[in-house]
Amino acid sequence: SKPLKVGIAGLGTVGAGVVKILQGHAGLLTRRAGRAIEITAVSARDRSRDRGVDLTQYHWCDNPVETASLDDVDLVVELIGGSDGPALTLARETLSKGKSFVTANKALIAVHGKELATLAEKNGATLRFEAAVAGGIPIIKALVEGLAANEVTGLHGILNGTCNYILTRMEREGLSFAEVLADAQRLGYAEADPTFDIDGIDTAHKTAILAAIAFGVAPDMANLPVEGIRTIAPVDIDYAKELGYRIKLLGVARKDSAGVETRVYPAMVPLTAPLAGVMNAVNAVVVHGDYVGETVYEGAGAGEGPTASAVVADIIDIARGNLCPAFGVKVADLQTLPAIPADKH
Ligand code: NDP
Ligand code: HSE
Repeated sequence: SKPLKVGIAGLGTVGAGVVKILQGHAGLLTRRAGRAIEITAVSARDRSRDRGVDLTQYHWCDNPVETASLDDVDLVVELIGGSDGPALTLARETLSKGKSFVTANKALIAVHGKELATLAEKNGATLRFEAAVAGGIPIIKALVEGLAANEVTGLHGILNGTCNYILTRMEREGLSFAEVLADAQRLGYAEADPTFDIDGIDTAHKTAILAAIAFGVAPDMANLPVEGIRTIAPVDIDYAKELGYRIKLLGVARKDSAGVETRVYPAMVPLTAPLAGVMNAVNAVVVHGDYVGETVYEGAGAGEGPTASAVVADIIDIARGNLCPAFGVKVADLQTLPAIPADKH
């Protein structure tokens, strides 16, 4: 069958990682996908920057939005970031043309996911965003496919690698979060604006996406109280430990007869609980399904390889022709459930 032709917009930490996998695993991916996956076009701001990968054989676009219009692009991979700007324009252009769209951009999906899923459906395109939540952990696939038989009643997890890495080093080395943040940035974990990590917004984006898929609703950032780790000091971590707890930034989503409750906050997790032992940039998610019971997913939550792994899995999914809706149900079947307000927590 015909190769799948891929345009990649954004060649930073994740984008360069995706190019490495597509180049390095070409034979393996062709066998898995049942057809070749070929990069045809790439885009970033600075054409002269060395990204550690050979890009010379690909069409270069100065403007990322151009990739959507190229005849030899069937699928666009967006790895720029931001809920608006070029990422949103590119998503709209790509899906409007009936081409598939893969992104790692949780801000984009948390804010515009319903609109983009609608565009995908209208135009017969596929939208995928596995890498947007919990890096290399296939949590979206788990919810959309593996747990599809269940009514999901709740989930909670460590969803931000940067914060978990910072909390780990604060505990082990007595450093302040500001001192550790630079290392998280150097390792490629942090967002372009790291306040999104520290202030819990990134975890909120991911929680909104997981809640949407788990409960069959649209992502709802408007009803999601958020508290980050900015005010946590090493002394708080020490006191918590003396009491038998470890502080973890959690995203929590719950559904009951009153509606849906979502929240992000630094929680005191008992040292005996599985999430307490999750350290560094590792993420973990606990999901409660009515028939399956509790399932736990753990793995690298940020960084080049793990995130690119999830992006490439989405590309393979599309190459195989998996037409499952992005949020697990068609947009018309998304439910509107009451949001349990913040003061009821
Ligand atoms: P980087 O900042 O490393 O890379 C961003 C890329 O986008 C760069 O290549 C940059 O170009 C390009 N870019 C930025 N602004 C523009 C613009 N206005 N026009 C054209 N190109 C632009 O980000 P990451 O790779 O870390 O993240 C990419 C996406 O993946 C984000 O949505 C992020 O939230 C998400 N993500 C990241 C993870 C991680 O661990 N890093 C994990 C999971 C998701 P240039 O290189 O020329 O400056
Ligand atoms: N900045 C994010 C994190 C990247 O630290 O988890 C992965 O989504």
